[in-house]
Amino acid sequence: MTSSQQPWWFGGVLYQAYPRSFADSNGDGIGDLAGLRGRLEYLHWLGVDGIWLNPTFPSPNRDWGYDVSDYFDVHHDLGTLEDLDALIAAAGELGIRILLDLVPAHTSDHHEWFVESRSSRESARRPWYIWADEVDEQESVFGGGAWTHDERTSQVYHHLFLPEQPDLNWMLPDVRDAFDEILRFWFDRGVAGLRIDVVHELVKDPPSRPNRPEVHKVLRRWRSLAGSYEPERLLVGETWVMDLDELASFYGRNDELQLAFNFPFMFAGLDATALPDVVERTRAALPGGALPAWALSNHDVVRFPTRICDEDDAKVRSALLALLTLPGTSFLYYGDELGMRQVEISPDRVHDVHGRDGARTPMPWGDVDWPDPWLPLGGKVATVAAQRADPGSVLSFCRDAIALRRGRGDLVSGGYTPLDSPTGVCAWRRGGATGVALNLTDSGATVPLEGEVLLSTRHRNDPSRLEPWEGVVVALT
Ligand code: NOJ
Ligand code: CA
Repeated sequence: MTSSQQPWWFGGVLYQAYPRSFADSNGDGIGDLAGLRGRLEYLHWLGVDGIWLNPTFPSPNRDWGYDVSDYFDVHHDLGTLEDLDALIAAAGELGIRILLDLVPAHTSDHHEWFVESRSSRESARRPWYIWADEVDEQESVFGGGAWTHDERTSQVYHHLFLPEQPDLNWMLPDVRDAFDEILRFWFDRGVAGLRIDVVHELVKDPPSRPNRPEVHKVLRRWRSLAGSYEPERLLVGETWVMDLDELASFYGRNDELQLAFNFPFMFAGLDATALPDVVERTRAALPGGALPAWALSNHDVVRFPTRICDEDDAKVRSALLALLTLPGTSFLYYGDELGMRQVEISPDRVHDVHGRDGARTPMPWGDVDWPDPWLPLGGKVATVAAQRADPGSVLSFCRDAIALRRGRGDLVSGGYTPLDSPTGVCAWRRGGATGVALNLTDSGATVPLEGEVLLSTRHRNDPSRLEPWEGVVVALT
């Protein structure tokens, strides 16, 4: 394949925007689609290829959009279908694609399918969910049992997450057909792809055990549907598994997901041994031609500057440099580019049942403030406006790193070769002529690179000697 035949996400940078917290167009304290549209100029300036939006569907928000009550509409807090169409069109004009977040494993208990299903044992929708007479020991992810008794029909239903998120019965052909229609609805509207929620636990059969072979069958079905569009639609899976061979299985034989999130990388830490080790093992595990999907943060985990960088911007820059110079597709979570920290949430401001609000706080724009945001603004990071005006900011660095990546073929499609380096330093070559080195220690270090520094996290120009926590990209000679 020549590079012109590569899909648009090949070597690309995608941006995860949490719509409720990204940008608010009408001052109600809740981010919305029109607000996001108003900030496309920023994302274009930053240089991203696509945006994944956390769930945009109508939802009672017991799990903040991951409890969908209608798969064919937009949550009224966020706007309308027309707003989504307008966003897709405006982003398209800037060459930015829009991905939605599909939540197929469960619905809201307010979804009409479940309302019907629970109404009687004879309901035509009864088999769409997982009903049983007896509970087993399985725990739900958010604590408590995975079965809830429903008085109306004296049976229990299964839910891997909240009782308000009943699990669909993916063994049923009707459920699979219903989702084909949902995928087509959004793909026909110009949605470029989907991030798919809890893909690894999609099919339950018997109820309390995930059924991997059936998951792969569903993924092959979706992939062929995605492939029937021009350009091919992208399926990115939330594949929360820590075993890399298992992760690799979700790519199938290049006939399942095109990208599967790499959680072992997210949790490797900023460590000169663990980080390249995960990269190497990922490369060994993935089938030929499969692209890794790298991310350091998302809406479910503590933001990476707090979790692995001690809120030290020197470390944040190096982590971003690693993220943006590895082979594959890299994902930024909104605010990563600012070095945004996890925000402390006082008990009276808690919204999420699982303690994740601190990673979902409003984007600090700095030009127009959030009057009364749904979650508190954190004060620990400089705003977008301030960082945009400062060439030495984390934001300016991140933008420079993305621009370098876009403009340098080695960083988009070049191979990856680890380079021997002293303890605490990791280094790799991309393609024939681009070197990357990160000094992940508190002391200066010698690195095995010679050439011209193209980018340094500390704005220095010595490819062979790095300051503490400095990272460089070098045009090798
Ligand atoms: C994974 C999502 O990322 C998370 O936010 C959600 O709570 C669960 N799936 C349940 O849908
Ligand atoms: Ca709003």
